[in-house]
Amino acid sequence: MKKSIRIWDLPTRIFHWLFAFTIIGSIVTIQLGEQQLHAYCGYTALILIFFRIIWGLIGPFHIRFVNFIPTWSKLRAYLQGISFGGLGHNPLGALSVIALIFIPLVQGLTGLFIDDDIAFTGPLSKFISNDLVSTLSSIHRINSNLIYGVIGLHVVAILYYLIFKRKNLIKPMINGDQLLSEEHSEKKSLEPLPQSSKDDWQVRVLALFIVLSLSVIFWYFVLS
Ligand code: HEM
Ligand code: HEM
Repeated sequence: MKKSIRIWDLPTRIFHWLFAFTIIGSIVTIQLGEQQLHAYCGYTALILIFFRIIWGLIGPFHIRFVNFIPTWSKLRAYLQGISFGGLGHNPLGALSVIALIFIPLVQGLTGLFIDDDIAFTGPLSKFISNDLVSTLSSIHRINSNLIYGVIGLHVVAILYYLIFKRKNLIKPMINGDQLLSEEHSEKKSLEPLPQSSKDDWQVRVLALFIVLSLSVIFWYFVLS
């Protein structure tokens, strides 16, 4: 029987599917003209992004940025086929994760200062000049194209792995575990030896505490 190890802890898996839901929710609600609902989706997405950034600094092993953001040499070794890329994100996937977090972060932050020139203003737009409001509103509209692009690429890449490389990345994002394949013994890995991500109740309670604290801080400083 093949061995598997925990890569995605429960909080990261919940983060991922809630994040996908809120980003898709933001797109659907704005297309339907439901600006208030759109704003609520945006606020939730922002809190999730802040959580993921904190989790990337202090979270379990494979989730921490230092353990998956590639150096140039690791990226080169992966592209030349010398390294299989390690567990969790491969070096190319890691770059897409940065885009999937950073582009929605810009979208969410600019949304807080938006003015649609009709009836809706973001909760923080009253604190900055009209010129800056109009610049940030334009960035919000232009950056939405990057959102479509990065999500499209993300889903296409996952389907490509599934269909052409026969590698199911979706299952680990549901049950948390990745199978240790033959690649781990056949090719020289530049990654540290396989290590699991911690995923016990302490980790889960800590994640919940961070999300609740972020929600209170966000509500106090942005919405009240
Ligand atoms: C709006 C939609 C989506 C967004 C914003 C999004 C965002 C992300 C992010 C930020 C990660 C990195 C996870 C982390 O380290 O925290 C990720 C990974 C992943 N996502 Fe999504 N996602 C979306 C939709 C989907 C969908 C629809 C699927 C399934 C078809 C999916 C499957 C995956 C998988 C399998 C991974 C792990 C990839 C790997 O092994 O490197 N995502 N996604
Ligand atoms: C990560 C979160 C967010 C995403 C993914 C997102 C996405 C989008 C998208 C795709 C559009 C349509 C742009 C266009 O076609 O021109 C849009 C417009 C808009 N968004 Fe967001 N948004 C987010 C956060 C927010 C927030 C937090 C607010 C305000 C509180 C906000 C307020 C608006 C408004 C008012 C518009 C209409 C702009 C106009 O037509 O002038 N958004 N957003």
